[in-house]
Amino acid sequence: MTQPLPPFMHPITGMVCEPAACTEDVVRASLIEAARSMQQLGINHGSAGNVSVRWHRGAADGMLITPSALPYEQCGVDDIVWVSMAAGQGTAALQVDGVRQPSSEWRFHHDLYVRRADARAVVHTHAPHCAALACLPQVQQQGIPAFHYMVAAAGGRDIRCAPYATFGTQALSDHVLAALTDRRACLMAHHGMIALGGALESALALAVEIEWLARTYALALQLGTPALLSDAEMDRVLDRFTRYRADPLDDLLAAEPDAHGRTAVPS
Ligand code: 13P
Repeated sequence: MTQPLPPFMHPITGMVCEPAACTEDVVRASLIEAARSMQQLGINHGSAGNVSVRWHRGAADGMLITPSALPYEQCGVDDIVWVSMAAGQGTAALQVDGVRQPSSEWRFHHDLYVRRADARAVVHTHAPHCAALACLPQVQQQGIPAFHYMVAAAGGRDIRCAPYATFGTQALSDHVLAALTDRRACLMAHHGMIALGGALESALALAVEIEWLARTYALALQLGTPALLSDAEMDRVLDRFTRYRADPLDDLLAAEPDAHGRTAVPS
C-alpha cells in the first residue's frame, strides 16, 4: 500500500504535499491517530464513532475508513479499509479492500464524498454534549440556534440536527446529508455528531468546536432562555469567516461538484 499521492492538497493537513511524503500507509496511520485523539479531545469514547478521508487509487474513486467495532487502540494500518465510491450506487455491491469490515456508517461517509466536493475528511463522534442535546425535542426540531457567533463555524445561521434513523442505514445517511446542506457539521438525533473538512485536521478541529458549542448551549439552557443573534448579524459573521478562516475548504465551497466530487481534487 504505497501508492503515492499526486502533488496536491494533503488529505490530513490540507497543505500542498510532496508525493513521497504522502503514501497510503502514511494516510492510514494518520487516520488511526485522529481516531485515537478523539477520546483525548473529549469528543468520543471507546470504539464509538468513525473517521474517513477521501482517497483515490489512480482512477478509482474511494475513501479510507476506520474498521467496524475495533477499539482504536488495537487498530493498525492494515485494519483500515478502502471503500470504492462505486459502492451503493444502483445495484453495485460494496467494493472494499481490507481484512476488516468498514465502519457500519460507511454509507454516510461514502454519500458525503459522492455529493460534497468540499468533503475530503469526515469525522463522526458520540461527543457527549452533542449527543445529549440531540435527545431534546426542541433541538431535534430547531438544531442549535445562533446563541453564539461561533455557530457560524458549521457554515450557517444554525447547526441542524438530523432526524433519528437506525445506525448504519441508508435512511440515516439520507437524513445526515439533508442536515448538512450548506453546512459542515450537524447533530444526529439520539446519536452524536458529524463534521467534515477540507482535510482531516480541519474536520477534527470543527468537531471539537461543535462539541464546545453544544456544551456551552446546554449550560446556557440550564441558566435560562438564551437570547439569539439576529439573522443579519449571523450573515455578517458568515461573511467575515470567509476572509478570517483559511481552511482550504472555503475555496471549494463554491465549486460545483461533478458526480464523483472530482472538482475538489486539483490535478
Ligand atoms: P463502527 O464501529 O461500525 O464504526 O460504528 C460505530 C458508530 O459510532 C456507529 O454509529
